[in-house]
Amino acid sequence: MNKQDVVQSITGGQFEAAAANGTASAPANIALCKYWGKRNEEINLPVTSSLSVSLGHLGTTTTVEPVAGADEVILNGLPVPEDTTFARRLRAYLDLFRRDAKQGFKVITHNTIPTAAGLASSASGYAALALAMNELFGWDLDRRELSILARLGSGSASRSVYHGFVQWHAGSQDDGLDSFAELLPETWPDLRMGLVKISTMEKTVSSRDAMRETVAESVLYRSWPSQVERDLQIIRQAIAEQAFDTLGRAAENNALAMHATAIAAWPPTLFWWPESVKAMQKVWALRANGMPVYFTMDAGPNIKLLSDKQNVRAIQNEFPDVEWVAPFDESAR
Ligand code: PMV
Repeated sequence: MNKQDVVQSITGGQFEAAAANGTASAPANIALCKYWGKRNEEINLPVTSSLSVSLGHLGTTTTVEPVAGADEVILNGLPVPEDTTFARRLRAYLDLFRRDAKQGFKVITHNTIPTAAGLASSASGYAALALAMNELFGWDLDRRELSILARLGSGSASRSVYHGFVQWHAGSQDDGLDSFAELLPETWPDLRMGLVKISTMEKTVSSRDAMRETVAESVLYRSWPSQVERDLQIIRQAIAEQAFDTLGRAAENNALAMHATAIAAWPPTLFWWPESVKAMQKVWALRANGMPVYFTMDAGPNIKLLSDKQNVRAIQNEFPDVEWVAPFDESAR
């Protein structure tokens, strides 16, 4: 099964525009239990399930419109040159939705994630695009199907079709039609995520390459599925009980275990910068002084703090430039 087959089975190949354009928004998300390793690279099928929280008002809004001829991509008001990785990857995704080879798309996309936050926007980007395609073509798909379409653009995008706590089920089928994200019923109004900017430079190793090398070469990767199985259970229960320390501890440990598998691969991948380690040490020092604060990290040097509303001010003394997100504050969306 390739990407085109998946799109065909979900949309029935209906690529006649039902409107002049389609517009949609999607939030970014941060995994508390990471997606790390694919069992199928073509259609982004993960080895394990994963669980995330969305970033409230931070995300992507995209409008897509059919045009005759070449694709046009506008990102935050500026045209994106054709020969960039960003444009190439986007074109390959748009290829899945063309009526014929002459059919192009104009994609106008706006990230509310400040570029300075150094956060990857592919999750919200591909989710917003899949949702916008659904509007353009009038498919009327449900969230499960939209999650699968978003997944074809970027694995973590499967989780960005919802706001809140989201679990992406790994699934076991070869066609991946059982590999989609689902919204968890719980909310946690006082939960806060702090974005600590270490670097906004484009990463040197893609998560795709690092995952491939880790799955193939890291002996530590063998323990990853059982780590995830355990962490998912702990995190689900911590969310149900609003047990902050249990949640933070499991999320931080899960992130560090993910990074350990990548460090133990060959070639090794270390996403940390010296400043990342300094930030981790500050978190540990705060905790040693009784402050409930934890961190998580993805395939880059930036740190995301996990905290509770009441402690934000005290943590800010140590991390003055942190940007705080309230994932469950609907008024900010
Ligand atoms: O969706 P991708 O291919 O960018 O992979 C994301 C991987 C991590 O961010 C490291 C973990 C996750 O679950 O989001």
